[in-house]
Amino acid sequence: MSKKERANFGSKLGVILASAGSAIGLGNIWRFPYETGNHGGAAFILIYLACILLLGLPIMISEFLIGRHSRSNTARAYQVLAPGTQWKWVGRIGVGTGFLILSYYSVVAGWTFEYVFEAVTNKFAGKTSDEFIQSFQAFSSNPWKPVLWLVAFLLSTHFIIVKGVEKGIERSSKIMMPTLFILIIILVGCSITLPGADKGIEFLLKPDFSKVDSSVFLGAMGQAFFSMSLGMGCLCTYASYFSKETNLTKTAFSVGLIDTLVAILAGFIIFPAAFAVGINPDAGPSLIFITLPNVFQQAFSGVPVLAYLFSVLFYILLAVAALTSTISMHEVVTAYLHEEFKFTRSRAAQIVTGSCIILGIFCSLSLGPTQDYTLFGMGTFDLFDFVTTKIMLPLGGMLIAIFTGWYLDKKIVWEEVTNDGTLKMPLYKAFIFLLRFIAPIAITLVFIDELGLLGT
Ligand code: PFF
Repeated sequence: MSKKERANFGSKLGVILASAGSAIGLGNIWRFPYETGNHGGAAFILIYLACILLLGLPIMISEFLIGRHSRSNTARAYQVLAPGTQWKWVGRIGVGTGFLILSYYSVVAGWTFEYVFEAVTNKFAGKTSDEFIQSFQAFSSNPWKPVLWLVAFLLSTHFIIVKGVEKGIERSSKIMMPTLFILIIILVGCSITLPGADKGIEFLLKPDFSKVDSSVFLGAMGQAFFSMSLGMGCLCTYASYFSKETNLTKTAFSVGLIDTLVAILAGFIIFPAAFAVGINPDAGPSLIFITLPNVFQQAFSGVPVLAYLFSVLFYILLAVAALTSTISMHEVVTAYLHEEFKFTRSRAAQIVTGSCIILGIFCSLSLGPTQDYTLFGMGTFDLFDFVTTKIMLPLGGMLIAIFTGWYLDKKIVWEEVTNDGTLKMPLYKAFIFLLRFIAPIAITLVFIDELGLLGT
């Protein structure tokens, strides 16, 4: 495809909303609250913020500049910028990572559809805590129900992808992202006004540094990485649709800010509500699917209509956030197949959707009927999660930092971040320093820690 024919986002707002849509997802609303809960609240959040600033933002700007300068899918981008070298593997690994994450992420994303359905049909009403646990376990291990929702979720993603960059991704983001913000604000408002919510607010605002150890620090870094969609060329692919006028640094700051705000607001939805009914903040990954519907029922036991509305809104919010993220992962692989193998865009999207459905089915079944079939002690779902988030994303992020910080011609870097000298970049030296030293060292530590080599 020639440079002229290549699709573009049509507006500045579209660029920010689509990129923020990729970043905001299950990582913010499902993973961030339980990580915060497990790591003691406000102190974790402060460390997380430092990680976003020192690590996330420089790598995000790098992905943006690599994508926009090469105006290619993430695999081709490295061939354009470093022809004849092995750097192309950074892009190729990114595509593979996107494909694998999409397969298992869609399983959990599919669950959000089931929970929207259950909330809308008022299935949560009158259930006890034990019944919530049982019904979640029965659902997630059911052989066909989660598979159907997984297929529905991937088909919804597919439908938007085939509409293209401007009409599909950009237009849907412009509708879904503001909807998401409105839903979040309503839910925060409901949650913090519950009687007893103040303990949850305190948990989020008052840091207790006695709980901070290396695992908190490293956990916060991993979370920042996943949440900002970094390390697999996702934002690099989106940036290939940016125009020459897009201010990369400003866009990265806006996306980082919105992503962080949503994560913290998700905390303000979940913790005040959980504390209000005396539920432990460290309930872990089940916080959203088991604890929360229970919280809604108990918190609004006197006003069933509020319990109903709160649940419906919350799961719609989760589904919308997951959808804007699956779209971005799908786009990485679709753009690659479309541009590298000359499939039409819609054929490329069909291949991605079809293969992800097949892999997704394996992931889904591994949580129930086929849970006894394991590799390295893990079922397919856990294996994909482990290999991608704990190995491939950190590795990709570190290589991107090294590529921009050490390898890439600094003239290209400077031209991209300043739009050919028309924008000011007062922190340019700090940006390069972070990429060269801080990011590779910090990510290496996360990497080693997550493989359990530090014994934390
Ligand atoms: N950032 C997304 C979330 O927080 O749910 C997940 C994600 C999307 C990770 C895209 C990686 C990616 F490339």
